[in-house]
Amino acid sequence: METEPFKRYITIGLAITSLTLITIFYISNSSNSNYFDFPKLQLFIANNYTESVNTTRICCLILTTPKNFLTRAKAIHETWGSLCDRHFFITENSSESNSAEQINITKQLPIAPITDIIPGYDHLTQKSVSAFLFAYQNYINDFDWFVKADDDTFIIVENLRAFLSKQNTSEPVTFGYNFKVIVPKGYHSGGASYVLSKESLRRFYTAHKNPNSSCRKDGGAEDVEVAKCLRNEGVYPGKSLDDLNRELFHPLPFHDHFRGSFPDWMLSYAENPLETVISYLRLSYE
Ligand SMILES: *[C@@H]1O[C@H](CO)[C@@H](O)[C@H](O)[C@H]1NC(C)=O
Ligand SMILES: *[C@@H]1O[C@H](CO)[C@@H](O)[C@H](O)[C@H]1NC(C)=O
Ligand SMILES: *[C@@H]1O[C@H](CO)[C@@H](O)[C@H](O)[C@H]1NC(C)=O
Ligand SMILES: *[C@@H]1O[C@H](CO)[C@@H](O)[C@H](O)[C@H]1NC(C)=O
Ligand SMILES: *[C@@H]1O[C@H](CO)[C@@H](O)[C@H](O)[C@H]1NC(C)=O
Ligand SMILES: *[C@@H]1O[C@H](CO)[C@@H](O)[C@H](O)[C@H]1NC(C)=O
Repeated sequence: METEPFKRYITIGLAITSLTLITIFYISNSSNSNYFDFPKLQLFIANNYTESVNTTRICCLILTTPKNFLTRAKAIHETWGSLCDRHFFITENSSESNSAEQINITKQLPIAPITDIIPGYDHLTQKSVSAFLFAYQNYINDFDWFVKADDDTFIIVENLRAFLSKQNTSEPVTFGYNFKVIVPKGYHSGGASYVLSKESLRRFYTAHKNPNSSCRKDGGAEDVEVAKCLRNEGVYPGKSLDDLNRELFHPLPFHDHFRGSFPDWMLSYAENPLETVISYLRLSYE
């Protein structure tokens, strides 16, 4: 897309600083044992990205809403969204605010042709369910992994691909930030984004097509409802950690994870010990 480089950097900067993050930190393996050596901290970029490109095909389903088209959706489209093998924005259709700019952006964004989405936070479950059914019906054979993200998610797609390339998509498994409560075996935080294997998506679809299943089509909390449905079908949440047991998905804004400003409920929800940049640095020097 033609964008002035300057504007583009602002967009990227905003995306990185203000949005929820899924990332892998790579901490330099320096022999210097100063834990607070922040300049040595760099984002891990998979060093063999090319190897997994053809074998780990990722379809990203990004939930958004028309009022965010020109801001969040556009930023994602110009940054990480386009690094997925294919990405779709999942949105309700809105006839309001049809400015020329709005109409223009609608033409540029890959919006999934789903017509029955109900607007509103209360209907997030329906948006996700529609997204997954759409992905199954049209693309189950074209991709290996199916990501559900929101328009305030930031994904380092190269890292996600490197991680997924080591996983088996024929397994009924999902990856994300693990909460250990409410659903048997726990569930993935919706805010951190999560990934379904091909087999998981197939089971999700089959369950939703079965009138006897208890899978909810709308209402409740999106992340909980999707997990409950998958759990009834034998799909389990995978271990979403790197080799040093560092989290790969992050539900809170970047700075909260960085500094360790966690809300109280996180302590009882999180499956793994809460970590900050300090504990990550410490791990890398052990
Ligand atoms: C990545 O993999 C390709 C193909 O196997 C190989 O040619 C290349 O040297 C590798 N690069 C790195 C940095 O390991
Ligand atoms: C991926 O597949 C395409 C088409 O088959 C091929 O041209 C390309 O070289 C492959 N890339 C890698 C990294 O293997
Ligand atoms: C939204 O509705 C308008 C008017 O009915 C229609 O022209 C347009 O194709 C619809 N867009 C989507 C994404 O369904
Ligand atoms: C809409 O897009 C066209 C082509 O991309 C461009 O020439 C035009 O200036 C845009 N209009 C607005 C209002 O953004
Ligand atoms: C992947 O999982 C399927 C289903 O459990 C299994 O049959 C297959 O052997 C696994 N493949 C590898 C490479 O482990
Ligand atoms: C749904 O339940 C009914 C009654 O138990 C059963 O006869 C029917 O085969 C079930 N349908 C499916 C698709 O499992």
